[in-house]
Amino acid sequence: MLSEKVSKEVLLKYQTDSGAFPASPNFEHYRYCWLRDGSFIAYALTLAGEEIAAQRFFQWVNEVILEHQEKVFAVITLANQGKEIHPDAMLHTRYTLEGREGSEPWGNFQLDGYGTYLWALAEFAKRYPENEVLLESEMPVSITAEYLIRFWHTPCLDCWEETEGIHAATLAAVYAGLKKQISHLNGIQAKQVQRILPAIIEKLEREYFFGSHFIANLNDKKLDASLLWLAVPFAVFPPDHPYITATVDKLEHLLLERGGLKRYKNDTYYGGGAWLPLTAWLGWYYVKLGDRQKARYYLHWVESKTIDGELPEQIVDKKSPHYRYWFERWGEVAKPLLWSHAMHLILKIEYNRMF
Ligand code: BGC
Repeated sequence: MLSEKVSKEVLLKYQTDSGAFPASPNFEHYRYCWLRDGSFIAYALTLAGEEIAAQRFFQWVNEVILEHQEKVFAVITLANQGKEIHPDAMLHTRYTLEGREGSEPWGNFQLDGYGTYLWALAEFAKRYPENEVLLESEMPVSITAEYLIRFWHTPCLDCWEETEGIHAATLAAVYAGLKKQISHLNGIQAKQVQRILPAIIEKLEREYFFGSHFIANLNDKKLDASLLWLAVPFAVFPPDHPYITATVDKLEHLLLERGGLKRYKNDTYYGGGAWLPLTAWLGWYYVKLGDRQKARYYLHWVESKTIDGELPEQIVDKKSPHYRYWFERWGEVAKPLLWSHAMHLILKIEYNRMF
């Protein structure tokens, strides 16, 4: 069984001198720092009392944003002129550990990580209000907010970096980030955010609750585990909201595989098995709902997948042709995946707090 201590140590061990976290240190294509993974890692370390490690991550993000700020103003100008914008001209979803843009082709335009960064920084500020990174963050927060205010309804890639559209989970991340930072924004930005927040809720309720559950996007209308984010942690809806409980019900009926949660049906990446971060997420959802039994079940499921003190990204079926395809291209599935350890740490801490 995996302890809180071990997950924390894995995260601390792989944080680089720059403050960045590689998504996975042993998997070539994941030797970048994603804002999405990194912000959840920083949140886990915030909960675990690792103030300095979380601070160093936020300092890294702040520098990255300041370094690339002219891109924000350039794309806003282009958008205002009605000109087409190449996705690579937008802020990237991941950077090298030194904070540079990657050079290999990648689906770089994804908005959710920027919302998640704003959210995680606000959570850090709640616990460590005196930390010096908060003053240093004023400018990067304002630039990020300006970017999200202008582009929140622009189609981009989803959090799985596969599907283009306006995604429910991305909207949730943007919602939480802007909402939590509203008191740090200038008057004009705060007014804009006050209009955007109810617009996001309304859009989700009106367009994304389809049939009997929320859908990930309006194009393929799929059920996707990232829909959990609408409730936890981004709190667009409470965990016991009927639309949320109906969606979680469907997730458990349709996307559980031998006890763990898949991203979506017919996922082919490494055979599309159950994902460790998402199964921990489901446990976290049940903590927020107050269901100890289910929270414990998913926590134990995640912990039972530990190999040599490390958690992978997903549980693979080595016989699947899709697994073999990816194995031949990129090797074994990522392990340790730092995001898996972060979600384990969050769930473990939150679960223990229930008693
Ligand atoms: C996932 C992303 C994740 C990245 C790094 C990708 O395969 O789809 O959600 O941010 O890996 O962990």
